[in-house]
Amino acid sequence: MQKAVLLAALCALGKAAPKEPKWQWSRHWHPGCASPSATPTVPAELAYECINTVPFNQSAAVALMVSMRPYIDWQTTIEYLEDPPAEYAAKVQAPYDFYANWDRIYQNVMDGNYASEYAFGFDLYRLFQMAHDGHFVYYPDSVTLIFSFGRTTPLVSVSSDGTSIPEVYVYSDVLDASFGNITYTPSPLAMIDGENSTEWLLNFSQYGSLQDPDALWNNMFYILAQVSLGSSGTGAGTFAGGGRGRWIYPGPCTNLTFANGTTTTNDNFARVQVPFDGITSGEDIYQAYFVPPADELGDAESLATMTTMSMTASSTSSSATSTSTIPAPGYPSPLVREMNNLNSGYFLDGAGYDDVAVLVVPSFVGATEDEIPFQSVNTYTINQAVAQNKSKLIIDVSANGGGTILQGYDLFKQLFPHILPYGATRFRAHEALDLIGQEVSYFSGLVPRSLGTNETVQDWVSTFFNYRTDADVNYEPFDSWAEKFGPHAYGPDPDNFTSLIRWNLSDVLTPDNSGGIDVSGYLNRTNITAQPFAAENIVIVYDGYCASTCTIFSELMRQQAGVKTIALGGQPNRDIIQAVGGVKGTNDFPWSYVLSAAEFPFDYQYLHSADYYNDTALGDYNDLAILRSTAAVINSRDGIRQGDESQLPLQFRYEPADCRIYYTPEMAVDETAVWKTVADTAFNGVSHCVAGTYGNTSGTYLHKRGGSRKKHAVRRELDFAQHYASLQGVWTGMDGVTLGGDAIMYP
Ligand SMILES: *[C@@H]1O[C@H](CO)[C@@H](O)[C@H](O)[C@H]1NC(C)=O
Ligand SMILES: *[C@@H]1O[C@H](CO)[C@@H](O)[C@H](O)[C@H]1NC(C)=O
Ligand SMILES: *[C@@H]1O[C@H](CO)[C@@H](O)[C@H](O)[C@H]1NC(C)=O
Ligand SMILES: *[C@@H]1O[C@H](CO)[C@@H](O)[C@H](O)[C@H]1NC(C)=O
Ligand SMILES: *[C@@H]1O[C@H](CO)[C@@H](O)[C@H](O)[C@H]1NC(C)=O
Ligand SMILES: *[C@@H]1O[C@H](CO)[C@@H](O)[C@H](O)[C@H]1NC(C)=O
Ligand SMILES: *[C@@H]1O[C@H](CO)[C@@H](O)[C@H](O)[C@H]1NC(C)=O
Ligand SMILES: *[C@@H]1O[C@H](CO)[C@@H](O)[C@H](O)[C@H]1NC(C)=O
Ligand SMILES: *[C@@H]1O[C@H](CO)[C@@H](O)[C@H](O)[C@H]1NC(C)=O
Ligand SMILES: *[C@@H]1O[C@H](CO)[C@@H](O)[C@H](O)[C@H]1NC(C)=O
Ligand SMILES: *[C@@H]1O[C@H](CO)[C@@H](O)[C@H](O)[C@H]1NC(C)=O
Ligand SMILES: *[C@@H]1O[C@H](CO)[C@@H](O)[C@H](O)[C@H]1NC(C)=O
Repeated sequence: MQKAVLLAALCALGKAAPKEPKWQWSRHWHPGCASPSATPTVPAELAYECINTVPFNQSAAVALMVSMRPYIDWQTTIEYLEDPPAEYAAKVQAPYDFYANWDRIYQNVMDGNYASEYAFGFDLYRLFQMAHDGHFVYYPDSVTLIFSFGRTTPLVSVSSDGTSIPEVYVYSDVLDASFGNITYTPSPLAMIDGENSTEWLLNFSQYGSLQDPDALWNNMFYILAQVSLGSSGTGAGTFAGGGRGRWIYPGPCTNLTFANGTTTTNDNFARVQVPFDGITSGEDIYQAYFVPPADELGDAESLATMTTMSMTASSTSSSATSTSTIPAPGYPSPLVREMNNLNSGYFLDGAGYDDVAVLVVPSFVGATEDEIPFQSVNTYTINQAVAQNKSKLIIDVSANGGGTILQGYDLFKQLFPHILPYGATRFRAHEALDLIGQEVSYFSGLVPRSLGTNETVQDWVSTFFNYRTDADVNYEPFDSWAEKFGPHAYGPDPDNFTSLIRWNLSDVLTPDNSGGIDVSGYLNRTNITAQPFAAENIVIVYDGYCASTCTIFSELMRQQAGVKTIALGGQPNRDIIQAVGGVKGTNDFPWSYVLSAAEFPFDYQYLHSADYYNDTALGDYNDLAILRSTAAVINSRDGIRQGDESQLPLQFRYEPADCRIYYTPEMAVDETAVWKTVADTAFNGVSHCVAGTYGNTSGTYLHKRGGSRKKHAVRRELDFAQHYASLQGVWTGMDGVTLGGDAIMYP
């Protein structure tokens, strides 16, 4: 492998002379540095020079864009992005004209304006990222396959006393200070690379995938909940090269200037994600990694006859799963914990907290093996809390990028068994969707709708494309595909959408759509009927990184059950912020799933011949765009609020939290400091809100006799070794991760 890195160095020689003799490259070899996957690292500058030597191939670029185009028909939000509601444009993201950018890139391709494959790929990457929709993702091979970047100094944004405006610190300074034995006073950042650090970070935050600016701010930093997810979270924050930060070249080094006048310079690094055996030039990289094998290429028609693509709406971007225990620095010993830290339960201790239970839910599950354990951990925590007279519940959804839609419904139904979830959704109505729906619905009428039949059959019969799967807006069955499809025109530049659809929670095929669980209150969980907590005794706490299924859960909890929310952190100001900062679309489809659906009519041909279909929109689908990416996803469904006649997608609604609380240095290293502060505010009449109101407390600290408004000290038994280990680098590549589920945001 050392040889491989030398070759990586040679690749860079093609364009730029190295600043050190060749033999010194081995100095940069840090095996194991980016554990757990032991991915080798090289200087960021070297990787950047190397990737920029990969030549641009104009005809391949045209073919790629042609291949990508039909998948974008499935994205629900393009018209709204261009002309969003004024409040969204003012407080969330500016209007964004996706197709104008698409056309600009296409023109640049035609004009041969790209100096390298990477320059083209990065433009394509940004085309999608700038929509700030975590379900609208294209990761070109040139940007995401070979290298990813990082910085060695995770940061954190904290308010020293919980009331003064937050400042940014190096995380290890805050961690060291929490021991109480350091010899210097940690100083906040003043400048990054010679620029005002606040301005610099505001700019950098916009490279993230979330839409909300305060959530984007938080996501740059070290957040315990993200770290607890290991490789399926955003690691030590985007600044350090976690999440979307890993695709942004950070320059050769990062200069940090502190308020006390000290400046440090740290070399930035790149992870080498693929073998470099036999690679000596950028051209070699192109041939080895960016040219899909001819025998894997095909259009929907030829692929339909060739393959049986894996048939599930769940994305499986990568295969291996880790069942090993992931450390969760900063968390106390749980009552119960899911093996991959996807959820866990706790009881708070100490005077004033002995009736409080905490359910930590940083995910809604991405892998089948976690589905039943996750549901069980929720049930166990709730049952134990009730059995032990804990009348208050904090639900901590920090870092929750979503997962399995029906797990969101299930947790809601465990808490509010008597409420029928609304949860209306709709697809964009277009020709391919219509043809697939007609064919699948016809086929599904010929076979039984039951579990335990032929698996391929069952997988199709249980999809949205069969009109029998879902309920309509009134929770009644649809009578036909035509009734479900519509179309109905909505939006600023009216686009067509399907009729509103609701999940039929008593559908016998539920396990096919839920990863194997039945939703509480239905089927084999009908005996879950008792509401465990009063709505006013539940509070949900957020770090802004709540997306996808987490937003579905939040909408049900806030709108239908009236549960209140607390948002942590945010930009350095005193404004109220949103609780939910990630994509509020209610389903994502990987392009590989779209393609398998587009193959279905060619495969079955009940209603029309293959020749007929090949002349329709279905004839436009091929797999080149999939083979040239490491992730490709569209937002297939909008979420629509109950009673909203205008059908504005929830994505474009601005929704402030009930209360905003700043992170403190204690919360940065000890999650129980978050929970106790939240419990004070929500249940003990001692508000820590810096904006918003909670019950009868508001904006400023109010005393209740006996209540403590003090910051919560760091627990003595905190395991600092785990913290330091996590600082060595939390890997956030796609390797070794199972990212699945049907509503999940890609980190
Ligand atoms: C450019 O891509 C085309 C496919 O569109 C391929 O036939 C050709 O060999 C590629 N050129 C180089 C130099 O790799
Ligand atoms: C501070 O205390 C911790 C824990 O006892 C110890 O590991 C660390 O070395 C100490 N640091 C200094 C600067 O003394
Ligand atoms: C200034 O602050 C930085 C960051 O906390 C710290 O590393 C450094 O030791 C401080 N310098 C002095 C002279 O105290
Ligand atoms: C960082 O500091 C180094 C050393 O002082 C300097 O050479 C370099 O130009 C600085 N880089 C940036 C981006 O400010
Ligand atoms: C840095 O930028 C922020 C945000 O614009 C501003 O409030 C602050 O005063 C600036 N700091 C300095 C030292 O100029
Ligand atoms: C950050 O600022 C630079 C320089 O103004 C600009 O080119 C870049 O697009 C900005 N990045 C983002 C994500 O806004
Ligand atoms: C479908 O039609 C296209 C032309 O539009 C043709 O190139 C392709 O070969 C056809 N597919 C099959 C499998 O016949
Ligand atoms: C819970 O409360 C009930 C009724 O007040 C009491 O009988 C029981 O002992 C309590 N259980 C625990 C574990 O405190
Ligand atoms: C399942 O049904 C499909 C479609 O009708 C058929 O092609 C396949 O052979 C069946 N598989 C089994 C195991 O019966
Ligand atoms: C919407 O559907 C109607 C009826 O099929 C059609 O006439 C109209 O052109 C469609 N509008 C768009 C924007 O696709
Ligand atoms: C309930 O249904 C789930 C999913 O179908 C299944 O895994 C589980 O074994 C069932 N439990 C019982 C008690 O039947
Ligand atoms: C519901 O039924 C299951 C399986 O029989 C049982 O384990 C569970 O305790 C029951 N739950 C309630 C709330 O009755």
